[in-house]
Amino acid sequence: MHALLEELGSAAAAALVQSFGAEGIPASVVFEPSPRADAQCNAAMQLAKALKRPPRDLAAAIVAAVASHPAVAKAEVAGAGFVNVTLRDAWLAAHVDDALALRPVGAGQTVVLDYSSPNVAKPMHIGHIRSTILGEAMKRVMRAVGYTVVSDNHLGDWGTQFGKLIVAWHRYLDGAAYERDPVGELLRIYVKYSEDERAQKLALGAPAKEADDDDAPLPAQAPELLLAARAELVKLQAGDPENVALWKKFVDVSMAEFDRTYQRLGVSFDEVLGESFYNDMLAATVDELLAKGIAEHSQGAVVVTFTKERDGEAMPPMLVRKADGGFLYGTSDIAAMRYRMGRWSPARILIVTDERQQLHFRQLFAVARRLGVPAKLEHVWFGLMRLPEGTFSTRDGNVIALESLLDEAEQRAEAVARSLNADLPASEVREVARVVGLGSVKYNDLSKDRTTLVTFTWDKALSLQGNTAPYLQYAYARIRSIQRKVAELGATPGPVGALEPAERALVLALLKFPLAVEDVARTARPHALCDYLYELAGAFSTFYNELPVKDAEPGVRAARLTLCERVATVLRRGLDLLGIEVVERM
Ligand code: ARG
Repeated sequence: MHALLEELGSAAAAALVQSFGAEGIPASVVFEPSPRADAQCNAAMQLAKALKRPPRDLAAAIVAAVASHPAVAKAEVAGAGFVNVTLRDAWLAAHVDDALALRPVGAGQTVVLDYSSPNVAKPMHIGHIRSTILGEAMKRVMRAVGYTVVSDNHLGDWGTQFGKLIVAWHRYLDGAAYERDPVGELLRIYVKYSEDERAQKLALGAPAKEADDDDAPLPAQAPELLLAARAELVKLQAGDPENVALWKKFVDVSMAEFDRTYQRLGVSFDEVLGESFYNDMLAATVDELLAKGIAEHSQGAVVVTFTKERDGEAMPPMLVRKADGGFLYGTSDIAAMRYRMGRWSPARILIVTDERQQLHFRQLFAVARRLGVPAKLEHVWFGLMRLPEGTFSTRDGNVIALESLLDEAEQRAEAVARSLNADLPASEVREVARVVGLGSVKYNDLSKDRTTLVTFTWDKALSLQGNTAPYLQYAYARIRSIQRKVAELGATPGPVGALEPAERALVLALLKFPLAVEDVARTARPHALCDYLYELAGAFSTFYNELPVKDAEPGVRAARLTLCERVATVLRRGLDLLGIEVVERM
């Protein structure tokens, strides 16, 4: 489909040049599938102004150019100057296999993909799931179109919270609870520490906003807990063996728990370079920023400021070194960027986090521009996940652990599996429940535009109707069952020939698969692939309701079997790119 659309685009552009002169006309214009035509071009409207010609005149020239293409059955001008192209059935039938031909548009380019990146000593909660799931889907999609992808888990394993945790460890730890559930106990003592520190600050008369800000300068009258935490942090940063050992313990127990979750989700990383990895590079990073005039001293601290003229927008300053010499989250991000450029020379760096970090990354990318970083830097942000109860925040201890969410998904999916097929053996029911349960949680995140706020409800995520994982997984299993039944008759797939309307629509839908995958690789919006798969499953459903497969005469049956096979393959491959599995029967 791609190759054809491009051929039409360059033929159209060449004709425009010939009729109206080369000026203002690109080498190729865009043809794309649309709900109104197999392929549509709206270049005539876009170019009309520059060429000072009525759009319908330009459209007529485009029509004349593409009408003679062997794949084109009909080309016509529509409306204000659209060109609508209908493809020949024979061309469609002959290209069914192109559905799986993804073009290596990313070949020769490296991408660094920074995702998941949870914080040590806090459990990964439902808010992190979106980063993990979106990032993993992007990794798979980008690899499928030929990019060399370095997936990197930028763990939050360094920073002021470790001073606090060490204090909390000495004062509040319940050893038995830690034995049972290390990360749960670390969270409990961290939350207790935060509450006590906040209470001490408020008692000293600090305004509530300041009491919540970790990076606020030490107040004149600092609470005792905070002083203790800062002292432990200084010891840790100076390499004090006892504190380094404690820190390492926190990292290890957290990582063990994260790894369990990753394994369950089928997620893996090439690198786990957390914030601590960059610790040794921070001083030199700030020195470089100062030497290049990008950062400046301000009241003992070092900051980068941003102006509309230089950076395209005025933003609050970014603190890169505190007055007490401490470095910040952003400092390690600048160091990470320099490190990644040096090691991999990526063409793109994508960082997946929730929407609250948008300003941070706009600041970081502005710093990158001033450093002359040549990569395309993309903050792949997503809306916060809401359960009906409200948003999550670790600090409040209002956490629904991801593990229990996934457990519940599997339990509920088991009921769905039983309702579909009471004859499935128990071991298969469990496997269906696992695949559908995980799939529904992932798909719920992936199927909505990531910049919108996601409300999670079980009924929607697990519904067998609508744009959901269970619907697509069931569509896949149903096709498999049709294939098995037809195979029992000894029938095998054969060439696709004449097309009934429902078959034609199905082939067109199949051929859009590579377009959808490339679109996601380009825009980092996986919901486009979900929408595509949903459309394909719908086209299949219409096809199957309208036309017999098993009872068709042999030649037609063979062709329809081929279509079934291709649809199943695209569904499985598409879901796999989203990190979602299928089962052969449900
Ligand atoms: N640990 C951070 C958080 O949970 C996310 C890190 C994202 N990556 C980055 N390079 N800053 O908010």
